[in-house]
Amino acid sequence: MSGKRFCAECGSPLAIRCPQCGVETSANAKFCADCGTALAAIARQGSDSSAIASSTAKKIRITPEHADALPSIDGERKTVTALFADIKGSMELMEDFDPEEARTIIDPALKLMIEAVHRYDGYIVQSTGDGIFALFGAPVAHEDHPQPALYAALRLQEQLSRYSGQLRARGKLPLQARAGINTGEVVVRSLQTGTSHTEYTPIGHSTSLAARMQALAPVGSIAATGVTRKLCEGYFTFKSLGPTLVKGVSEPVELYEVTGLGPLRTRFQRAAARGLTKFVGRQREIEALKHAAELASAGHGQVVAAMAEPGVGKSRLFHEFKLVSESEWMTLEAFSVSHGKASAYLPVLDLLRDYFHIAATDDSRTRREKVTGRVLALDRSLEDALPYLFGLLGLSEGDDSLAQMDPQLRRRRTQEAIKRLLFRESLNQPLMIIFEDLHWIDGETQSLLNLLVDSIATARILLLLNYRPEYRHEWGSRTLYTQLRLDPLGHVSAEEMLDSLLGAAPELAPLKRLIVERTEGNPFFMEEAMQALLDEGALARNGEIKLIRPLAELKIPPTVQAVLAARIDRLPAAEKELLQTLAVIGKDLALSVIGAVAGQSEARLEPMLTDLQLGEFIYEQPSLGGTEYTFKHALTQGVTYNSLLAERRRALHERTARAIETLYLHQLEDRCSSLFRHYSLAHQPVKALRYAHMTAEQALNRGAYSEAASTVENGLKLVNELAEDRERLGAELTLRSIESAVARVLHGAISLERERAVRRMCELGEKLGGGEHSLRGLIALCNILFNRGESARGLELAQRCIALAEETAQADLLAAAHEQAGLLAHGCGKQKEAISHMQAASDASRSAALASSGMLPRTVVNEALALQLLGRVGEAANLAEEGLRRARESGHLFSLAVALINAAGLCQIRRQPEAQLSHAHEAMVLSEENGFAQWRAIAQSVHGIALTELGQLDRAVAELQESIAVMEARGRPFRQAPIAHLARCYSMMNRTDEAVSMLDEALADG
Ligand SMILES: Nc1ncnc2c1ncn2[C@@H]1O[C@H](COP(=O)(O)OP(=O)(O)OP(=O)(O)O)[C@@H](O)[C@H]1O
Ligand SMILES: [Mg+2]
Repeated sequence: MSGKRFCAECGSPLAIRCPQCGVETSANAKFCADCGTALAAIARQGSDSSAIASSTAKKIRITPEHADALPSIDGERKTVTALFADIKGSMELMEDFDPEEARTIIDPALKLMIEAVHRYDGYIVQSTGDGIFALFGAPVAHEDHPQPALYAALRLQEQLSRYSGQLRARGKLPLQARAGINTGEVVVRSLQTGTSHTEYTPIGHSTSLAARMQALAPVGSIAATGVTRKLCEGYFTFKSLGPTLVKGVSEPVELYEVTGLGPLRTRFQRAAARGLTKFVGRQREIEALKHAAELASAGHGQVVAAMAEPGVGKSRLFHEFKLVSESEWMTLEAFSVSHGKASAYLPVLDLLRDYFHIAATDDSRTRREKVTGRVLALDRSLEDALPYLFGLLGLSEGDDSLAQMDPQLRRRRTQEAIKRLLFRESLNQPLMIIFEDLHWIDGETQSLLNLLVDSIATARILLLLNYRPEYRHEWGSRTLYTQLRLDPLGHVSAEEMLDSLLGAAPELAPLKRLIVERTEGNPFFMEEAMQALLDEGALARNGEIKLIRPLAELKIPPTVQAVLAARIDRLPAAEKELLQTLAVIGKDLALSVIGAVAGQSEARLEPMLTDLQLGEFIYEQPSLGGTEYTFKHALTQGVTYNSLLAERRRALHERTARAIETLYLHQLEDRCSSLFRHYSLAHQPVKALRYAHMTAEQALNRGAYSEAASTVENGLKLVNELAEDRERLGAELTLRSIESAVARVLHGAISLERERAVRRMCELGEKLGGGEHSLRGLIALCNILFNRGESARGLELAQRCIALAEETAQADLLAAAHEQAGLLAHGCGKQKEAISHMQAASDASRSAALASSGMLPRTVVNEALALQLLGRVGEAANLAEEGLRRARESGHLFSLAVALINAAGLCQIRRQPEAQLSHAHEAMVLSEENGFAQWRAIAQSVHGIALTELGQLDRAVAELQESIAVMEARGRPFRQAPIAHLARCYSMMNRTDEAVSMLDEALADG
């Protein structure tokens, strides 16, 4: 549009856009109708202001790649670095000048700012008349976004100060600018700001903070927050400006001035500066490199490439190999950087500067001398290469003989000059040249590299290249070319690495497992995860590493987030949207569900899913019921999920839940936990609770108590979202009854947790009108009374419960009431009554619906106990055996533990201490492994009693004492038996006084 006012075809005046606000206006208009900016000058702008014209007119410089990445939906969450830069005192300047004159001063400055941002792939969100607001890391995520932002800011200040010098020379007032930078999460979205104008803008506290940084920056400088500094330390240098109060932020903000470039260029160098982790695994790759090096050093040049996803260890492999080969080889390195594609020869320049030992502080003369000296010392015949090397290194002097040369020819000769230099050097000793990160290589460096690959076959040169899977090349068929595909670390190496990072303390084992599971053996992710834990204080390093608080989840470290987000953003928009949908659906992705949620046919989805597979985001997994996919990395899923706006996540969760309900109508029991999750995240508590009940009950029946407990906990949170009505009371009651069952197993029958849950069950039953609603609570209360030893009261209540349960005709309640009545009758010494209740309970629980609850083995063994007490020894033995067999077959570990304890009790009555010992021991181990703390104590007391019988009195005393102590802390269930037996032990050991005082104390306590 720059300068064109009329259509070349028909001559009609063309519309122009206001540079200030972007609104379209007729080409003839002198002023913008929207904001009043003078427009006359725009049409006249020549080529020198084209950068402004194009960037302000379009506002955004969106490349086709960007355009594809723009969210087609209402927005996205992204982590970005925001840069604000503003010319100081422009108001005053404007006041003194005619606007047109002010423009001639300000616009070139603005142009410099915009150019600096574009040079580093930044995105201008807005250019106000005298400043800019730019984003790095959006629209397309960039894995190192804070770095280009800082490079751009430094360049911007440098260019402005040069321009300012020119102004001063022309006798005008110099210009200065302030720049402010911050990194953080924003929501970016497209906004329609005019009939045909769309703005792509971020919203979020973190960009406002960048604007504040700009206001606080000393004139002519760049101010950054601690967040940005942390991510950029080492790449740049910073000076602390101290904590500063910032409007809109409650706590003082640490402010830093960016003062220049630091010594580091790559992430690997930064890792090395932090201290490298012990090198693990990779023997095969090191061997392959050694083999290639042997060939190369014998004059058969070789190219070895390491290919892997980010962070898998390409650079580290070369680093280690370089160390072992250092003495014989000369090594040169060239690094491509993520913002370097547009800068010709950047990696080669670094390589040459290093080779010629050029320091940043050297002036041009010294540099020229260094180059000339080294080249001529190497070989005088290379003298004619010098002008090309000077040209490349920006050291040509006034009489630049190459300036007139055909650019193509000059390019070829420059590359030849570098090649000759390197080949000549390889005659002195073998030469290893490392090219890092070819996926970011610029065209010129690539062409030099091609030249080298084409010509090293007979040279003593080893080219080591590394790149990520997206890089394409044509060397595959060359015999001198070897590609090593690096996989993430295997389990053994990953554990070895974590041992060296975290130490070998056994309490860190679960954390290590969590890290390996989440990072799937990617060493960069592992290191960053641990660093993030240290930073947030979950881990502390005090000589050795300690875990400060237990962790169930790992947060995604910002560095890892950036790497993954950049990969995801390179996907075409439709595939990215699909990946976001998949991230919501979850880990297991059935094609039919994907189709239903994405609203697309399988035929349309399949090519996209294939692409996502090729890009290693997902993979297909074997499945019986149709095609299924899964995410390759849980972290990719996490980052993709986090990019979605809350409202869209909610809608997708709802669609997923509905799709599952429709597609698996007859297998809802198999899908209930995922339905619970999706409906919770869709904020549909009523539906979510229905599946929470199902999930928790299933977990309880499977004996997965902690899973049941966490489902109950999450379910109770949802209950609070409901209105206080009968539905809510009923939902809570169901959850509380599961809570009570879990608490009984994990904390103990009369633990505080259990009693609290049961009390609440009774309250809820009353609120619902009593009767059958109170039944679950009352049955649980019976069990509490039994464990407290209040059997007579309990039995009465249990009989009322049976009557109520008969009215409801619910088999599970009737069985539960009979089970409690049986226990209580047994406690009262009414063995016949106990037997009949146990039989009734067994009959009821034999019905299919209760088969999984594990009640039957318990009632059978209890019945055996009562029979034994009636002297029906044979029947008792058979039944006990049956009960144990059933318990083992059921896989219901809690019932097995209880059955074993009762079987041990039976042996005690029969005076069979060996069998008693063995059952009790098994129950103890089982309870220990599964966290049944109270039951372990009871099993231990029975074990101790058996030891007494066997005459092992010292061990018996220790065990009985321990079991009594544990019971003390858990409401003291059944503690009379171990106390009595401990007293017996004491008296057998002639410690009569202790025995007597113990019994006195126990009797006094009741
Ligand atoms: N085998 C290993 N043993 C121990 N640490 C390793 C190993 N491989 C990699 N690391 C560590 O993991 C981190 C990432 O490795 P590296 O930088 O080599 O990855 P990369 O594949 O080059 O990634 P990128 O594609 O981002 O350049 C480094 O800190 C490195 O020291
Ligand atoms: Mg690397």
